[in-house]
Amino acid sequence: MWIFWWFWPLLAICASDTFRNRAEEIMRTTPVIDGHNDLPWQLLKLFNNKLNDSEANLNTLTGTHTNIPKMKAGYVGGQFWSAYMPCDTQNKDAVKRTLEQMDVIHRMCQLYPETFLCVTKSSDILQAFNDKKIASLIGVEGGHLIDSSLGVLRALYHLGMRYLTLTHNCNTPWSDNWLVDKGDDEAESQGLSVFGQRVLKEMNRLGVMIDLSHVSVATMKAALQFSKAPVIFSHSSAYTVCPHRRNVPDDVLQLVKNTRSLVMVNFYSEFVSCSKDATLSQVADHLDHIKKVAGAEAVGLGGDYDGVTELPKGLEDVSKYPDLIAELLRRNWTDTEVKGVLANNLLRVFSEVELASNHMQVPEEEPIPLGKMEGSCRTQYGYSRAPSIHLQIGALLASLASLLFGLHLL
Ligand SMILES: *[C@@H]1O[C@H](CO)[C@@H](O)[C@H](O)[C@H]1NC(C)=O
Ligand SMILES: *[C@@H]1O[C@H](CO)[C@@H](O)[C@H](O)[C@H]1NC(C)=O
Ligand SMILES: [Zn+2]
Repeated sequence: MWIFWWFWPLLAICASDTFRNRAEEIMRTTPVIDGHNDLPWQLLKLFNNKLNDSEANLNTLTGTHTNIPKMKAGYVGGQFWSAYMPCDTQNKDAVKRTLEQMDVIHRMCQLYPETFLCVTKSSDILQAFNDKKIASLIGVEGGHLIDSSLGVLRALYHLGMRYLTLTHNCNTPWSDNWLVDKGDDEAESQGLSVFGQRVLKEMNRLGVMIDLSHVSVATMKAALQFSKAPVIFSHSSAYTVCPHRRNVPDDVLQLVKNTRSLVMVNFYSEFVSCSKDATLSQVADHLDHIKKVAGAEAVGLGGDYDGVTELPKGLEDVSKYPDLIAELLRRNWTDTEVKGVLANNLLRVFSEVELASNHMQVPEEEPIPLGKMEGSCRTQYGYSRAPSIHLQIGALLASLASLLFGLHLL
């Protein structure tokens, strides 16, 4: 009776502030590690990678989802920067362009040493947290960017690549992309070809995380079965919540659970609500669903900032992560579950991938068959011995002999 009318609305406001405050309190010690940010692509498009351009200052950069003040406001403590190149570079200058994007990420760390620390190990991410720096890592987006070469794969590893997305929106000669499921592309590798398995084996050996965002469901299943370490989806959401082919269906989420793998939820409105308009609450629905099917240990964040055009109301830029965490707390996620989403799940997968790696093991050497590669820009050094006429005649004689021998036995 003597509780004033204004008490309840005030209580509601205080309660929502409390969730936001709790989110920030958690994020002061466990900041977010985001799985996918396309700022390097923006730096190429806007400034041709000239970081010294007067408008390219990352402290004052406008018109992008990402800049340094927004990252700090969003409690970002780790970022996988995307070294991305579109599919039209396939069979052209894909490798050169990828090297340039990896270089611009390294130069970001060099130019803003008080903010970014380029790292390559899970333990270094924790060190960056302690030093209040943003651990910066490299994810290469698109299997076409290794140009079907295990040598290029290894060289990119040495330059800091710690995940490789097996495809972008195109097949590679060894793996199929999601447009196959949409019916727009033909299945070519039925998931993964034999060479594709060699690529994965080499990624396991090196300690490069296998990223299954953008791949076909058959490729997801083949990779989840083949990899001897957990895998990630660096920027994908839940198919059951929004039936877009870029999202992860429930039977695959079950395999994610079984393999202790990770789905880092994408914020792109089209993947969140299957329309141009979406909300922060709908993103939380994706997190809830993945938690329900695959467990809270399987949930992470991969916003796809600066790689997409439409973002949900409430998650417009990289400063907004605490609001999403507040929503999870409101939905009764525990502190441990929330810390898992923020950083600990990725750290677990990354360190398991590191533990499963083995640099003493012999590297994969067998190259892709020459006939699998298209385009006229390549030379064929090294391949010239294989299709020699002598070897072919030899093989023919051998099979003829075994045929005759076989008939004789009958
Ligand atoms: C970068 O820009 C500043 C002024 O904007 C200039 O003084 C400096 O020489 C430039 N550095 C390089 C390497 O071009
Ligand atoms: C969270 O837990 C409280 C207390 O147990 C309960 O009243 C509330 O309905 C729960 N909210 C959700 C969204 O599950
Ligand atoms: Zn992408």
